Order: sequence, then C-alpha cells, then structure tokens
Amino acid sequence: MKNIVLTGFMGSGKSSVGEGLARKMGMMRIIDTDGLIEEKMCMSINNIFATQGEPFFRTLEKSVVKEVSGLENYIIVTGGGVVLDKDNITSLRSKGVIVYLHVSPEGSYERVKGETHRPLLKVTDPLGQIRELMENRKPFYDDNDIEVDTTGLTVEEVVDVVIRKVEPLLSG
Ligand code: S3P
Repeated sequence: MKNIVLTGFMGSGKSSVGEGLARKMGMMRIIDTDGLIEEKMCMSINNIFATQGEPFFRTLEKSVVKEVSGLENYIIVTGGGVVLDKDNITSLRSKGVIVYLHVSPEGSYERVKGETHRPLLKVTDPLGQIRELMENRKPFYDDNDIEVDTTGLTVEEVVDVVIRKVEPLLSG
C-alpha cells in the first residue's frame, strides 16, 4: 500500500494527525522526517539550525526525505519546509499520496505559541513571520493530492476526513 505523506505549515497538526492515523490505520507505521534528522545527528532541530544553519538542515532534510520515500505502508510526517524543494515532493509522491493539512495563520500561531522548538519562529513577531512564510509557501503547499482544511476541526475529525479522502488513492 502507498504511504500517506502529511505536509503542512508548522502547527497544522501533522504530528497529532499522523499519530491518530497510525492508531486507526492498523497496518501502517509512522515515521517523521524531523525525528529522523534529530536521531541521525544526535541533535535537536533547534541546535542544528543554531550551529550549522538552515541550508545545512535542508540538505539533511533532503537526504532523509529520499530515504523515507522508498518505504511502503508508512504514514510519513514531514517538516513544514519539506515542500520548498520540488525534488522532495517528487520523491515522496513516487510511493505516496501527498496530503496537505491547511491551517490559518492564526490557527498555526495558537498551536505553536507555547512551544520553543521551532527555530524559524524565534522572532519578535511570530504571527507576522507565520503570515509571511505561509504566503510565500502557498504555491508549494498547493502541489498536493488531497487538501484538508483543519479550521474548526478536532484532531480526530481531521483524521476521519483524511482517511475518507485518502483510502481510494492508497492502493493505486
Ligand atoms: C520547519 C518546520 C519544522 C522543522 C523546522 C523547519 C519549516 O517542522 O522542520 O523547524 O521550515 O516550516 P514542523 O512543521 O513539524 O514544525
């Protein structure tokens, strides 16, 4: 069976939805690109950004994406910037269905404001930064197979919508 690849902006709920999907889709395992990068580097994403910079992180991300793209039967949770490199989406799509979880800037901000592990949001105006990044990334997120608007939905509701929309595409 094909992979379910979750894309979306920071705070769109990719990790929670991924876990919910893994619980309901009994046959599928879950993996996340940021987790794999941290494991390989024995370093947090924050630390990688701080000591090596974003371009280095993106190179690592690209190699990890290549690795997980070869899997089957996985829920692949991606970092919010994975879509910026078209090669990443091409690789992930070869054995997967790209599911984009849409969130509004305000919705993203609500979810991330209490957290400290996102280097790109360690700025004086995180909401302004979210708005700008989201606007710039829109064309990249639009390259998806299924889009789910998470506004006003609980994680469980998003999981159910994703399953309903993705199931017909998984066996192809
Ligand atoms: C990033 C999103 C993060 C992480 C890194 C960069 C981005 O993942 O990969 O901080 O560029 O949007 P989440 O989307 O899981 O927060």
